[in-house]
Formats: sequence, C-alpha cells, structure tokens
Amino acid sequence: MLNLILFGPPGSGKGTQALRLIDRYHLVHISTGDLFRQEMGRETPLGKEAKAYISRGELVPDHITIGMLRNKVNAHPEAEGFIFDGFPRTLAQAEALDQLMAEEGTTIHLLIALDVDDEEIVRRIRGRAAISGRADDANDTVVRNRLAVYKNETAPVFDYYAKQGKSHRIDGMGSVEEIFQRLCTLIDQTIHSLKKGALI
Ligand code: C5P
Ligand code: MG
Repeated sequence: MLNLILFGPPGSGKGTQALRLIDRYHLVHISTGDLFRQEMGRETPLGKEAKAYISRGELVPDHITIGMLRNKVNAHPEAEGFIFDGFPRTLAQAEALDQLMAEEGTTIHLLIALDVDDEEIVRRIRGRAAISGRADDANDTVVRNRLAVYKNETAPVFDYYAKQGKSHRIDGMGSVEEIFQRLCTLIDQTIHSLKKGALI
C-alpha cells in the first residue's frame, strides 16, 4: 500500500494534483472537503451540521470529520492506497488517522506539503470562486479565516509527521504540470526506498 497525505493551505493545489496522482499511482482519493460538499448538496443531517462551520471558514469538529473519514476508508477494502486531501487538519485528526491505518495493518508513508505564497493563494481562491460557486471561496473574510485556521491548527500536523520522518515540502508555485512532476519525483523516491526496506 501507499498512503499519502497531500498537505498545504486552501488553494495550494491539493485537489488538482490528487486527481492526477490517483491515475498514475492507482490510489483512492479522499477529500474531506469534497465529502462535506456532497453532503451539503444532498442536504443530509451531516451536510447541514457541517455547513454551519464551513460557511464561517471554521473546522468541523474532529469527531464528525474523523467518523466520516473512517467510513470512507472502510468503504474501500480493495484500495492499493489512499491520497488524503484536506485531512488531517488537526493533531487529533492525525492521531486518529494513524490509529485507523494501524487497524488496517498499514501506515501513512508520506506527507507532502505544497508551498505556495499567500498572494498566489488569494489569487487562486478568487479564480476558483468564479467557477466553483463555493460560498467559502467567494467571501474574503471567510478566506482569511480559513488561512488563519490553517496556520494555527493545521500547520502543526506537518511537524507531527516530521517527527516520524515522513514530512516533505515541495515548491507549489508554477504550472500544474511542473508541480505534478515534482510530486512524482518525491513519490517515486519514497516507493523505491520502501521497496528496498520491503515495507510495501
Ligand atoms: O479541504 P477544503 O478546503 O475543500 O475544505 C473546505 C472546508 O471544509 C474547510 O474550510 C472546513 O470548513 C471544512 N473542513 C474541515 N475539516 C477537514 C476538511 C474540511 O472542517 N478535515
Ligand atoms: Mg480541495
């Protein structure tokens, strides 16, 4: 198995790159943000509850997000691995993910953070708002709050996996293709060293 966390602030390109990576590495893509948006679109009880937080740019409480993630992982017993996109966003979520992977007899192999400067993030989110119709992309106060939440609550997850020797950063500026190539180089190196250690 290969289990990868795509990490980085909102608008850093995680979703865009995940869609390319799943084709190349045959992984299952789990975006907790996309799952919440599907629930909101269907107006389920979970969707209604999540909407209150998402519309303010706050995090949905850990127990809700972790429960949803767990269901999604359990729904894919055939998976050759997962790309987690937008999860974990707190230390409690990271600990729950590690526990879930251990229960599945596997682990997180790699976290890759996409480094993008703040100006570029604002520019990308504005561009996305124009086509996605996402209310949380269209409101500047909400976007600012999401970036603050990332810095305060989510950034420590990088250090959490760094202590396990799993965190890496790549330059997330440039074309989609350039960034994809940087990701593939790092993932291929990881696969190579995992194979040498017979861990995969
Ligand atoms: O990942 P994405 O940026 O699409 O998430 C959109 C929103 O969903 C976040 O701003 C947050 O309100 C909520 N979310 C969350 N916890 C996660 C993922 C997303 O609260 N792990
Ligand atoms: Mg996304």
